[in-house]
Amino acid sequence: MHHYFASRVHELWKRTQTVKETGEPFGTEVIMEMAAALLAKGEKILLHAESVSSTKPPKHLMDEQQKALKSRAGGAVAPFLGESKLREAIAKRAKWFTGVEVDPESEVLVTAGSMQAIYFAMQTLLNPGDEVIMATPNFFFDIPVELASGKSVFIPLSYEDGFKHGVEKFEEKVTSKTKMVIICSPNNPTGRVLTDDELKGIASLAKDHDLLIMHDEVYDGFTFDGRKHISLLTFKEVRDRVISIHSFSKLYFMLNFRLGYAIANREIIKRMVLPLTYSSMGVPNFIQYGAAAALEEEWEKRHLKQTVSKLQKNRDYVVKRFNEVPGLFCVKPEGTNLVLTSIEKLGISSMEFAKHILKEGKVAVAPGNSYHAEGYFRFTLGLTESTIEAADRVADAAAKLAKQVKK
Ligand SMILES: Cc1ncc(COP(=O)(O)O)c(C=O)c1O
Repeated sequence: MHHYFASRVHELWKRTQTVKETGEPFGTEVIMEMAAALLAKGEKILLHAESVSSTKPPKHLMDEQQKALKSRAGGAVAPFLGESKLREAIAKRAKWFTGVEVDPESEVLVTAGSMQAIYFAMQTLLNPGDEVIMATPNFFFDIPVELASGKSVFIPLSYEDGFKHGVEKFEEKVTSKTKMVIICSPNNPTGRVLTDDELKGIASLAKDHDLLIMHDEVYDGFTFDGRKHISLLTFKEVRDRVISIHSFSKLYFMLNFRLGYAIANREIIKRMVLPLTYSSMGVPNFIQYGAAAALEEEWEKRHLKQTVSKLQKNRDYVVKRFNEVPGLFCVKPEGTNLVLTSIEKLGISSMEFAKHILKEGKVAVAPGNSYHAEGYFRFTLGLTESTIEAADRVADAAAKLAKQVKK
């Protein structure tokens, strides 16, 4: 039967089949399935593996959804680019959030989650063999690159170098086949928020070598200690080279609405519509109408302020608590809802660690190897007190493990 399959899909499928033993590249899914089985048995498991900070989408957004479902679900399908009401809200948000002018008529594409925007970007922009440079640890951008027959080129970073995106590291990897650089800031899973200098370096590299940049900005509203998120769209010299990726899952806890969008120059967007049209024919109209309220300036500013303050408070506790455990080194996130911790000194795999924490601590955490971060685990910050309890349980179970390993 194998001869039926496209070789790139078959190869990737084979890779994902190792998931049960090693967790790579979908270890978070494996842990979540194990956690679901334990929850079904009545165990009190706390979920901190998936990157979403609340299971409660804001009430008025749910109300808007209900209204839109009732009034629109039976109507005409949405335009392929997305409902104009939502595209206009997206363009307005880009203006107040980053100061960038975006044309809602031609520079925005609404997608089913930001994952789909990333996938369409790769399908649209990569030719077989085109190289795409990305730093690791990272969200698994390599898979959509490879599904488009591109080649991922990794720059391994670590906590020892502060996960710094020095332009010289990128420069070294540029070849005649390089087509694109992927930047994720604020970063999943490291929590880094790239500085103006780092971004300037990436922008000048892209200009000098005629490269595209995909900037994953899905955590743009979650920055700590007064840091400011900078979008690569704001660098005029590369504005037309940037594909900016956004999501409703993270900032507004609307994971199951499966809604995201891309902002890019009109020529790129024009072509990204093609894979969208011939796959899903667009995103449900009522989901889009219901979500537009999330981008309303006054509400979003208030929502982000409250959310970031809760996340930051919990971050401070979690980082301190994890760093007290011998053998753990916790990286203090500058943004996102994620905390990455090195377990290198324990000398066990990230999958073994996550399984141990689930069994002993009754907390689901993400193994680093899902994010090209073997030797780390990732913990999602929630908004409530239960995050404190989860952190205590993780720290206690890890301390027990550290003692066993030492013996
Ligand atoms: C950096 C990053 N990009 C994209 C996504 C995809 O999110 P969604 O498809 O829910 O918008 C995620 C989800 O975890 C992420 O962390």
